[in-house]
Amino acid sequence: MITVRVPAKVNVQLGVGGLRADGFHDLANVFFAVGLFDEVTATPAEGVMLSCTGPDAAAVPLDDSNLAARAARLLAAHHGLAEPGVHLHIAKAIPVAGGMAGGSADGAAALVACDALWGLATPFETLLELAAELGSDVPFALLGGVALGRGRGEILDALPVAGTFHWVFAVADGGLSTPAVFRECDRLREEAGTGSSEADVPTPDADPALLAALASGDPVALAAALTNDLQAPALSLRPSLADTLRAGTEAGAIGALVSGSGPTCAFLAKDAESAAAVAAALRASGTCRTAHATHGPVPGAEVSAPRP
Ligand code: C5P
Repeated sequence: MITVRVPAKVNVQLGVGGLRADGFHDLANVFFAVGLFDEVTATPAEGVMLSCTGPDAAAVPLDDSNLAARAARLLAAHHGLAEPGVHLHIAKAIPVAGGMAGGSADGAAALVACDALWGLATPFETLLELAAELGSDVPFALLGGVALGRGRGEILDALPVAGTFHWVFAVADGGLSTPAVFRECDRLREEAGTGSSEADVPTPDADPALLAALASGDPVALAAALTNDLQAPALSLRPSLADTLRAGTEAGAIGALVSGSGPTCAFLAKDAESAAAVAAALRASGTCRTAHATHGPVPGAEVSAPRP
């Protein structure tokens, strides 16, 4: 039995370029791995089987559309294994359809877990390539830490970061569809008259002030530099998120933004004590389902030591 622990992400910068001919958008995407984890346990089985536990388990598809199942089959096909056999159990703590790449995390964890279970010793570079085939956010869940994602987010460069940052995540009731939020981004750009194609929208770039804040470990500077081009579209589809963002800011968060395509809201706190207070205030505010205080950056998907 192999258990892999894999983190959620928040995007501290999500710059969205124009709509490409392939239906994706070029990004300047600064991924940041945080201490909210799913665990994927692989055990020998006939065929590829899935199960899931956790507060959102009912919303997790257990068919072949699940990225964990697709990851197992992709890895097996890459190695020419005709009949892959694995039972993957997902202990889910990352919000489902929450803008924290929880499904992508499970895909990355399944790659690492099946690789270990089947004794394949696939090179990390190859796992990254397979991950990119599964989805734009899957490679980062393997890498962890903090990284700049270019292209559709899958071309990664690790970024230097000093110290630990303290975060709070306010989990909404119900998810948002990532493609729907990107479509709303395009629609708002058309409505504003700026256009939404690659020719209309300048290619986004990483913000030097944000990179400096990460490298120096300065939470106040990072808070000032947080940006997400998907925030306006997420708020357009879910206006109540403005109340959540306000509640966290009023409770003392130094920075607030929608996480990825939402609807989870992310708050930066000045220290661990302040993060705990912001999380408690958010839980009491009635503007979210629950709130978690945590920290980052943390490593990407890794095999956990067996429990005693
Ligand atoms: O890569 P992934 O399957 O996670 O992407 C889900 C959807 O999100 C894509 O089909 C696309 O609609 C949208 N997307 C995008 N541009 C990106 C990443 C995702 O438009 N860079």
